[in-house]
Amino acid sequence: MPIDVSATSATRDGAMQDPIIVFDRVDVTLGGQRIYDTLSFEVRRGEFLCILGPSGCGKSTSLRVMGGLLPISGGQVSVAGRPPSEAWQEIAFVFQSPRLVSWRNALDNILLAPELRFGKAGREERQGRRERAMDLLAMVGLAADAHKYPSALSGGERQRVAIARALAVDPQIIFMDEPFSALDPNTRQRMRAEIEQIWQRTGKTVVFVTHDIDEALQLADRIVLFSGKPTTVLETVAVDTPRPRRADHAVLAAHRDHLVGLFRAMASTPVDEPAAVS
Ligand SMILES: Nc1ncnc2c1ncn2[C@@H]1O[C@H](COP(=O)(O)OP(=O)(O)O)[C@@H](O)[C@H]1O
Ligand SMILES: [Mg+2]
Repeated sequence: MPIDVSATSATRDGAMQDPIIVFDRVDVTLGGQRIYDTLSFEVRRGEFLCILGPSGCGKSTSLRVMGGLLPISGGQVSVAGRPPSEAWQEIAFVFQSPRLVSWRNALDNILLAPELRFGKAGREERQGRRERAMDLLAMVGLAADAHKYPSALSGGERQRVAIARALAVDPQIIFMDEPFSALDPNTRQRMRAEIEQIWQRTGKTVVFVTHDIDEALQLADRIVLFSGKPTTVLETVAVDTPRPRRADHAVLAAHRDHLVGLFRAMASTPVDEPAAVS
């Protein structure tokens, strides 16, 4: 029977357009300071979305809002069709620091995630969770390191455990907050390639925060560029260069020049003055 390719790709495109997270004119005030100015953007189901912006513009804050950890003072946010406070089962976090429990080995650190979220496993479920955790350790290249404690793992290996732990609760969405910025440049580069492969294999929606233009260009389907405070979306850049991407690709170089220009313009804009008057 002939395969209807057009229907398949239409369905896939349709899925990619389907927003799984919506920020609609969101205001956030912290410590009396207005952080967001009616911030609006969407994350599409299954995409790798990078949030890029200067330090202090509210990138981490946006993940806290999406994770239901921070109330907003205006606008609306929906995550998987629900308010963030009701969507916690759909999400998992990977932070800059791996936040592993030092007295549990790699495997038991991963098993902690389903234990905390779904409760202790019954006898028959225990084996399934272990097998799944071992599969995830293999996916992040640590099949032989399951019984190592965090102190015996390198920085990159610890971060791999943190990624496996996030996947262990099978979330629809993974939030990553500058997860590789504490790693050495070689490890960072390797981890970027790995997270891209993991994303492709698992089909998760990834929201990845970074202040590194090249990191965003390597990883993102779309880049949402945040302005300085009070923060709005300065620009959304779709990056459709085939993967895996070479940093010297001409289209990426053009995007880079453009983004570097926008960063420079932000840096030279005095605070408390509008970025542009038209
Ligand atoms: N608990 C808090 N109280 C007051 N201000 C805060 C708090 N958390 C963050 N901020 C401020 O909110 C702004 C955005 O912070 P953050 O989201 O961490 O920025 P980014 O991740 O983009 O570097 C910063 O100016 C920061 O100082
Ligand atoms: Mg941050």
